[in-house]
Amino acid sequence: MMSQSTTVILKDNWRFSKEVKGDAFSTDYDASKWEKVSVPHDWAIYGPFDKKWDIQTGIIEQNGEKEATEKTGRTGSLPHIGTGWYRNVFSIPEFRKGKKALLVFEGAMSEPQVFLNGKKIGNWGYGYSYFFIDITNDLIAGSENVLAVKLTNEPFSSRWYPGAGLYRKVSIVVKENESFAQWGTFITTPDTKDNNAIVDIKAEFHGSNVSMVTEIKDAKNKLVATQKSTETEDGKFHQTISVGNPHLWSPETPYLYTAVTKLFAADGSLKDEQNIKFGIRYIKYESNKGFSLNGKVTKFKGVCLHHDLGPLGAAVNKAALKRQLTILKDLGCNAIRSSHNMPSFEQLELADEMGFMFLAESFDEWAKPKVENGYHRFFEEYAEKDIVNLVRATRNHPCIVMWSSGNEVPDQYGAEGLTRAKFLQDVFHREDPTRPVTVGMDQVKQTMASGFGSLLDIPGLNYRVHLYEEAYKAFPQGFILGSETASTVSSRGIYKFPVVQEKNKQYDDLQCSSYDLEACSWSNVPDDDFVLQDDKSWVIGEFVWTGFDYLGEPTPYDEKWPSRSSYFGISDLAGLPKDRFYLYRSRWNTKDNTLHILPHWNWKGREGEITPVFVYTNYDSAELFVNGKSMGIQKKNNATPQNRYRLMWNDVKYEPGTVKVVAFDSNGKIAAESTVKTAGDPYKIVLDADRKTIKADGEDISFVTVSVVDKNGIPCPTADNELQFKVTGAATYRAACNGDATSLEIFHENHMKLFSGKLVVLVKSIKTAGKIQLEVKGNGLQTGKINLKAEL
Ligand code: GAL
Repeated sequence: MMSQSTTVILKDNWRFSKEVKGDAFSTDYDASKWEKVSVPHDWAIYGPFDKKWDIQTGIIEQNGEKEATEKTGRTGSLPHIGTGWYRNVFSIPEFRKGKKALLVFEGAMSEPQVFLNGKKIGNWGYGYSYFFIDITNDLIAGSENVLAVKLTNEPFSSRWYPGAGLYRKVSIVVKENESFAQWGTFITTPDTKDNNAIVDIKAEFHGSNVSMVTEIKDAKNKLVATQKSTETEDGKFHQTISVGNPHLWSPETPYLYTAVTKLFAADGSLKDEQNIKFGIRYIKYESNKGFSLNGKVTKFKGVCLHHDLGPLGAAVNKAALKRQLTILKDLGCNAIRSSHNMPSFEQLELADEMGFMFLAESFDEWAKPKVENGYHRFFEEYAEKDIVNLVRATRNHPCIVMWSSGNEVPDQYGAEGLTRAKFLQDVFHREDPTRPVTVGMDQVKQTMASGFGSLLDIPGLNYRVHLYEEAYKAFPQGFILGSETASTVSSRGIYKFPVVQEKNKQYDDLQCSSYDLEACSWSNVPDDDFVLQDDKSWVIGEFVWTGFDYLGEPTPYDEKWPSRSSYFGISDLAGLPKDRFYLYRSRWNTKDNTLHILPHWNWKGREGEITPVFVYTNYDSAELFVNGKSMGIQKKNNATPQNRYRLMWNDVKYEPGTVKVVAFDSNGKIAAESTVKTAGDPYKIVLDADRKTIKADGEDISFVTVSVVDKNGIPCPTADNELQFKVTGAATYRAACNGDATSLEIFHENHMKLFSGKLVVLVKSIKTAGKIQLEVKGNGLQTGKINLKAEL
């Protein structure tokens, strides 16, 4: 219907170049030789990896360094630095004289300069911000328009891989003159009881003599309540609509309602309509009680996530995000922190739908720098605008239960920092009085002394487990959030001997041990956090650093090449679970049992040597057998944090064969068993897709896990065969990733080595439905094939 708003997503027909000469913004510029791309797009993810992209000599103060050293890989060693241009020629038939048009960016990396039809129409600073530009006077009706966007990434502007380019959606919204204001409707459920909820809607609009009708629909699209308003309050419509027997939103029951808001002109014609999903839920943070959702005390079993999607880089992709959240659901995770910037809209939509609480963060720096060209350059001009846009664009998502104005900002020091903390928190409160604000603090002693920690709604501690108790006493809030925890390091499927707990441990192969006992000087192993989470009722939960490995920050190998992605993830860069996944799962996932053995059992050359076996399980005790011989029963106990959360047989001597664990329930009865076997030589390639049917929309992705097994079907845990990939039918080969932080193989090339016996291939749909086949070959191995399909 022409009277309503229309959103046109500018997805296809983009041209991109990094080699631009002349005025690429002018309408007659010839961009026909530029690369054809679709948006979201990340120009840097195609590589090649090279240490020259982010080589830097300096001190990472947050890591406690005192002397400058040469570092590489800090931002992923991918070519994100420099200037790139995008151009799109389009026409918008929906736009006519008398209408309004907005150009909306959901993020543009970074410092976007925007030109329409040869004229500069706007710019922004921070690459993670959402912003829009009113293009009513610049958009030409009934003809072609030329949009050009210039993006510049300065060197030393990030502590991780930021991605590059138009990595999130760009769209044009066409509205009537009388219409709802962009991001101007705020839905809250301030007064919710089990049998009744008040849905409070405040809507900003343009125009006069208009009326507003809201229809509240349940998840089955059934009308449950409606209200009409003709009067306004402070220039906004304000409705309070009662919904009886509401279905409350929670991670376990992510029930969503839709508010259909309609704006009518005086003559009764419909001028605008919004469909806003929301949830009915109530949250509270109370001294000594902690956080409660819908009246139930709930601890955050959360993970921090950077925004990159491994082999896809920063280019947002809903299938990739959904896969991440599916993996996190199985982990038993109930919350996400978008560290250290604004989350994508897609991720918030999925968190609403799939049931994850969300801590939406904004900045890694305020006015004081961490990196030479970081956010401090924009702070004065943009901080308020950035927060306003963050809150206004996302505040209707029930998943968001807390905001964060910063992470480990150097402004934790100094009186001005205190003023800034208050200023930012006040902006959040002004825009959204319903949710509290935190800052992830690492300078805990300092923030106790200065009052910085006391003024926050939620004192968030990053690491510093030894200071929780003191901070709890020093701060007035009556609870502490583990805003960032653990930072344990490990490489999937890699184990080092002897097995000892260490900090900053390095090995010649630039990997970390998966016995989950290695951390950084400032960080700790998971069990140390578990103790606090379990023993202190005033600790309201934790956000583990990180749910998945990410590009950049290859600590503890910041000074070693080639090492270009993190070791912190509970799962690796390909999304494959490390052992640690099962340690968290054994306490977070309370629905399913976990019984996981480590290490693998292929230790040729270690015969007779001590090879400890750990079991991550929700059961309290278990008996271990090696080739049928009992290694004894272990029971969780309080001797050390590890003994409390892991079952460990530290004296096992390696002999090839079978390791079996038998777990007992609380009555001492056998409850479950699990085995790991020594594998023979790699024989056959095995494929397993997360989804066999994908959408034929040119965006959907099937993630196929590739592994090799021996003649008897036993997985080969150390295989590193080079494999080739071929996709035929209604899809394309998009990328592969093996989770090896030291691999310089390029993701989008159709070959890669296995790492610890596995890798993941991404098969992407085209816009045609049909059959798809992925074939994976490797020298001397039986080929693997899998049939998938794409549907419209
Ligand atoms: C924290 C920081 C994170 C990441 C992490 C690594 O101090 O907030 O961004 O750098 O350390 O352990």
